[in-house]
Amino acid sequence: MQNDIDMLADWARTHGCGILRAEHVGQEAILIGWVNTRRDLGNLIFIDLRDRTGLTQVVFDPQIAPDCHKKAHILRSEWVIAVRGEVHRRLQGQENPNMATGAVELKAKELKILNKTEPPPFQVDGAVDGSENLRLKYRYLELRRPEVFSLFHKRHMIASTIRHFLNERGFIEVETPFLTKSTPEGARDYLVPSRVNKGKFYALPQSPQLFKQLLMIGGFDRYYQIVKCFRDEDLRADRQPEFTQVDIEMSFVREEDVMQILEEMMAHLFEQVLEKQLQVPFPRLRYQEAMERFGTDRPDMRFGLEIEDISQACGQSEFKVFKNVLADGGGIKAINIKGGANHFSRKDLEGLSSLAVERGAKGLLSIKIEEGGWRSSLGKFFSDPLKNQINKKMGARPGDLILVLADDPRRACSILGEIRLVVARRLGLIDENQFSFLWLTQFPLLEYNDEEGRFQAVHHPFTAPMEEDLALLGSAPERVRARSYDLVLNGAEIGGGSIRIHVLDVQKKIFSVLGISAQEAEQKFGFFLEALRYGAPPHGGIAIGFDRLVAIMTGAQSIREVIAFPKTTSATCPLTEAPSPVSQAQLQELGLRLDLTDIPTNEKND
Ligand code: AMO
Repeated sequence: MQNDIDMLADWARTHGCGILRAEHVGQEAILIGWVNTRRDLGNLIFIDLRDRTGLTQVVFDPQIAPDCHKKAHILRSEWVIAVRGEVHRRLQGQENPNMATGAVELKAKELKILNKTEPPPFQVDGAVDGSENLRLKYRYLELRRPEVFSLFHKRHMIASTIRHFLNERGFIEVETPFLTKSTPEGARDYLVPSRVNKGKFYALPQSPQLFKQLLMIGGFDRYYQIVKCFRDEDLRADRQPEFTQVDIEMSFVREEDVMQILEEMMAHLFEQVLEKQLQVPFPRLRYQEAMERFGTDRPDMRFGLEIEDISQACGQSEFKVFKNVLADGGGIKAINIKGGANHFSRKDLEGLSSLAVERGAKGLLSIKIEEGGWRSSLGKFFSDPLKNQINKKMGARPGDLILVLADDPRRACSILGEIRLVVARRLGLIDENQFSFLWLTQFPLLEYNDEEGRFQAVHHPFTAPMEEDLALLGSAPERVRARSYDLVLNGAEIGGGSIRIHVLDVQKKIFSVLGISAQEAEQKFGFFLEALRYGAPPHGGIAIGFDRLVAIMTGAQSIREVIAFPKTTSATCPLTEAPSPVSQAQLQELGLRLDLTDIPTNEKND
C-alpha cells in the first residue's frame, strides 16, 4: 500500500497526543504520532497514539467512518499515522485516571498512514527490556518514550535557566577550542592526529581550564560555557568519556564570591525547574573533617551515621588486636546504626565484613546493644566503665548496632564511609526527595603519588595555595591547603573549582614541587606561563558536571539516561559502532602505521 506521505500538506496537527482534555470535547482535532498500542475488538478498533507529549486513545468505529475503520485493521505498533476526528468524552466507567488524556478519546473520521515499520527490536512501550547494548543501538526508539523525552526536556530547561541566570549576571558565553593541547585534569587525553602537521597531535580538552584563564587575562571578566569535555578514564555510572560542564570563570574574586554566585544560581535553578526552595548559603565542611566524619570528600548529608573515633577507650581494653593497631599508628573507628540491632542478621554482618575485607581491612566487628549490655565478641575484653564510655561516645542505646573497624585511620574511615552508604540504603534512611548541597573546602593542594614517587595536584596545578600555607611548600608540601572548593549534592561531586594562581613565580614554584622541570613546563604550558607575564588579574572559577546535575534533578539512576547518545562502560557507541577501524589510505594520509601485535585479530584494522 502506498504511504500517504504527500498528503500531510493539507493537514495541520492541531494538538499534541498528550494534550486533549474534557474541555476539548466536541472539537475537531488532527493528531499525528506513532501507534503505541492497538486493540482490535472487531467492531471497534482502539489505538493509543503517541508523540513526545503523551498518549491519546483513538477509536475507529464503523458506524462513524466505515472506510477509516477498514483501513485501521492493518495498523501495527510504531506505524506513523495522522488521524482527523472529533473529541468525545469517554463513556462513564471507561475513563483512564492513569492517562493525562484519560477523560476523552478521539473518534476517527479520517486516517492517513504516513509510514510503516519493521518489527522493532524491542517494545517501545512497556517495561524497559533488552540489554543495554541493544537499547543503545536503537536509542532513537527508546527516545520515543514520552517519559524519556521528558528527561531531555528537563535537561534543556536546566541549561536554558542556567544560561539565562548567568547572562543576567554579566557572564558571557565564549567557545573555546576542541582541537588543542593537553590540559591536565588527571585523566588520559583523547588524541587527534594532524594531517597537515604529520606526526603531531591535538588533544581534545579534558576541560577548558587554561582557555578560561586566558579569557580572564584577556579582560573578559565573567565567562561561562556549557561545553563538552573529553577524558579517557575508567568509566562508571556517573562518568562518560565525553560529558558536559557548566564552566565558569570570574576575575577579581575570592572563594566566597564564586561560591555565592553558585548558590544563587542553584537556588534560582531549583526554584524555576523543580519549584523547590533551597536553603542558602550551603553548609561548608573542611576536607579533613569530612574525611574523619564521613570517610569521603563527597559525603551524603541526608542521613547521620557519622563516624566516631573510639581509639582512646579501645586502647585501654584488653583486646590485643586493637592495641597492636594503635601501636602501629592506626585508629579505631565506629558508626552507630540507631535501632539497627534487629535489622542485621549474622549473614548481613558477614556481608558487610566481606566488603570491608575486600577494601583491605582485616575485618569488621559489631556490638549489639541490649538492655543487659553488649552482645559482641569484644565484650569480654572491655570493662563496664569502658563499655559505658564507648556507649556514651557513640550515643548508643539498647537496640542499636555499633560497627567497629581498626586500621590505618584514613582507610578505616573510608571503608566505614562506604558501609555507611550501604546501611543507609538498606534501612531506607535516604530521603529521595531531599536535595542536600554541601561545599567541601580546604582540600590539600598536593598528594603524594607512591607509584610515581612524586607529588601531584589534587585539583589541577593552576590552583592557588592558601596564603598562610605558602611557607610550607618547600618543607612540607603535603600540608599545604588549596584555595579550592567542591560542590557536593546528595553524595555526588557535582562541581569543583578554585582560585587560581595568577603570579608567574608561584606557578613556576608549584610546577617545580610537582616535579615538572622548567623544560617540561615550557613545552607543555609555555604559552600559559608566557601569558602570566602580561598582567594576569586575580581570578577563580568552577565547573559543574552538568550531566550529574541533570541526573540528580530528574531522579535518573545514571548519567547515561540523560545523555541522548551515551557510550557504554567500555567507551563504545553501539549505535554508530564508534570507535571503528579506518582505511589504510586515511592512516597513510596522517603518517600513521598501526602496530596491532597485542590486539585480538577480530579487532584489527583491515
Ligand atoms: P573537575 O575535573 O573537578 O574540574 O570537573 C568538574 C566536574 O565535572 C564532572 N565530571 C564528570 N562528569 C561526567 N563524566 C566524567 N568523566 C566527569 N569528570 C568530571 C564532575 C566534576 O565535579 N577545570 C576544572 C574546573 C575548575 O577548576 O574550574 C575541572 O574540570 O561533576
